[in-house]
Amino acid sequence: MRRLVAALACRIQGSRLYGKPLQHLDVQDGVTILDSMIRLIKTLTPIEAIVLGISAGEANRPFIDVARRDGLEHIIGDERDVLQRLIQCGHAGRGTDVFRVTTESPFFYYELVEEAWRRHLQYGNDVTTLDGVPEGCHFEIYTLEALERSHRLGDDRHRSEYCSLYVREHLSDFQVEVLPVPQALERLDLRLTVDHPEDLVVCRCVYAHLKHKAPRLPLTEIVQFLDEHPELRALVAPYVVPTRIWQPGAQQGTRLCGGSDETTVQTSRPTNTSAAFTSCFQESQRLKAKAEQVIPSCTQTFSKGPTQFVQGAAPVFLMRGQGSHVWDVDGNEYLDYPMALGPIILGHNYPAVTEAVMRQMQEGTTFSLPHPLEVEVAELLTEIIPCAEMVRFGKNGSDATAGAVRVARAYTGRELIACCGYHGWQDWYIGTTTRSKGVPATVQALTLPFEYNKIESLHRIFAEHPCQVAAVIMEPIGVIEPQGEFLREVRELAHREGALLIFDEIITGFRLALGGAQEYYGVIPDVACFGKAMANGYPLSAIVGRREIMQLFNEVFFSFTFGGETMSLAAAKATITEMGQHDVISHLWSQGQQLRDGYNVLTRHFGLESCTACVGLPPRTVITFKDETHQESLVLKSLFQQECLKRGVLFSGNQNICYSHSDGDVEQTLRVYRTAMEILTEAMKSGRASHWLEGEPVSPVFRRA
Ligand SMILES: Cc1ncc(COP(=O)(O)O)c(C=O)c1O
Repeated sequence: MRRLVAALACRIQGSRLYGKPLQHLDVQDGVTILDSMIRLIKTLTPIEAIVLGISAGEANRPFIDVARRDGLEHIIGDERDVLQRLIQCGHAGRGTDVFRVTTESPFFYYELVEEAWRRHLQYGNDVTTLDGVPEGCHFEIYTLEALERSHRLGDDRHRSEYCSLYVREHLSDFQVEVLPVPQALERLDLRLTVDHPEDLVVCRCVYAHLKHKAPRLPLTEIVQFLDEHPELRALVAPYVVPTRIWQPGAQQGTRLCGGSDETTVQTSRPTNTSAAFTSCFQESQRLKAKAEQVIPSCTQTFSKGPTQFVQGAAPVFLMRGQGSHVWDVDGNEYLDYPMALGPIILGHNYPAVTEAVMRQMQEGTTFSLPHPLEVEVAELLTEIIPCAEMVRFGKNGSDATAGAVRVARAYTGRELIACCGYHGWQDWYIGTTTRSKGVPATVQALTLPFEYNKIESLHRIFAEHPCQVAAVIMEPIGVIEPQGEFLREVRELAHREGALLIFDEIITGFRLALGGAQEYYGVIPDVACFGKAMANGYPLSAIVGRREIMQLFNEVFFSFTFGGETMSLAAAKATITEMGQHDVISHLWSQGQQLRDGYNVLTRHFGLESCTACVGLPPRTVITFKDETHQESLVLKSLFQQECLKRGVLFSGNQNICYSHSDGDVEQTLRVYRTAMEILTEAMKSGRASHWLEGEPVSPVFRRA
């Protein structure tokens, strides 16, 4: 059981004002700052004990008297080592967690304590705090372990009265949640802490005004009172230091991660903590604001953009990767599963690939005549991909699919294309989706989608457009496996009708098997498109296929400046070699299976089978979320993502396994999934899962038709 203990560090010495905690707030009634605080803390239900952490020395005896009078525990400790005194208090109160306020600030924002404690427990925070309120009004909740770690690893600076300093200097080592406060209370221009005689005057006036509500003086009313009394504000103005403790770069009144001004003090639902964890995403948010001015949708790739991650709980920019881990621009570390949407098949900055690219870079990157690597890699592809007799290279998957469609039209002299799956951004395909803006209707009419595992839907296309279909292009498997002989039936039907079969293996290639799904299922298409994983993150794609079709590229125009760029080809050669030398594919299957099966065991444990599942073949699985009506639930997906991100797992819905995903990574991920699922369960029980989100839910890349 967790137990929260308030630790009040007390010392009589003060450089500017002697005996600050014992100064009277109310001279008439003899109420001191410390008295008022103790009374207030006693009204806060999460706090189970109050312990005074008294500095050693005879002069501090009055604090012992206070403890005795009020029946409180106390400890005596080193005057300068405040951190140690807090730890002693935690132990004396048999606490697991420590609530900390300074004893010279009588008016902390007590209204948020219950909520802070709830979140502290729910999210497993090391520190839960708030920022931006008038000076002296914040509080901190620490796990005792976090305090002890700070003490052990820190030095004298960290052990001083700046107890949070070690955590603040090592944010990536702690889970810190900075709760947002209502806009009206974001008042760094106000000061309610007693350090100078003038401070005491202001605090006394505040107390006198709201004494009838003591010990619970609402902060909003305090702020209102100060707003009505400029002369009091002026009195302490020279001492105001308008900086945040946890978010030093933030401007007063700005919200780093968007969101609403909603107050956090609501007990029936979790807060909209749009600013929570903002200390972790400052740089991301700063760059995002700049990007909004110069980059439409802030990204080059829709699925990597801010609409795909819960803003406020997610980074926006990543800047480094190593193996299975990535780091964002604020230094937060994540276990990566999107893996750049699939290309990273070995791991980020994989040594053999990086070295090959560096070597090539020093030789020159792109030339005016073809480079030998083009021949070498083409030959390698013909050895490993069953349908590959000849090869042409592109940069993106879309180059390859567009080229394949064009060559099929040239080969058959027909115009229509039947497609199934996703095939990239070009007109011929994207015109069939809900993002068809800018594609002429005449182009849209040339591509006819059919349904996976429904051979009759393809039959219909051929029946309605006899002798007009040039090719059937399809992802051999998306997420759901082909049923029965579906792939073979598609090939037979296409050939019977005089059309070519093109497999879009942009995802499946180098992942299900080195030779892609055609190798795995033993169904060989006429032409195939590869991309993503073939160069471990370098931009390369390929159209491969039967010689007599591929030779048409002598005339079909498929040509661009960077087609033979050598660093990507060097990366592909190194990737293929590495994959051949180690059993990379088996590793992808085994890690992916552990993750998929582990996830589905968890769903059963939590009774969530009907709303979430991990599906697909192990090297690339997808986690789906459904609401009670069995429709895709972006709210549940977003909440799950949010909770994974907080615990260091970069979750986008897809799990693209790479060779660097270790057993430890998988175990860690499943631990995080377990906690995220616990929270999902609670949120669903509350009936208002969307209220648990700390930002807008993610949006679909394609609207539902
Ligand atoms: C199956 C499939 N085909 C084609 C593409 C397009 O590739 P690119 O985005 O590299 O142009 C993608 C991209 O995700 C894909 O998944």
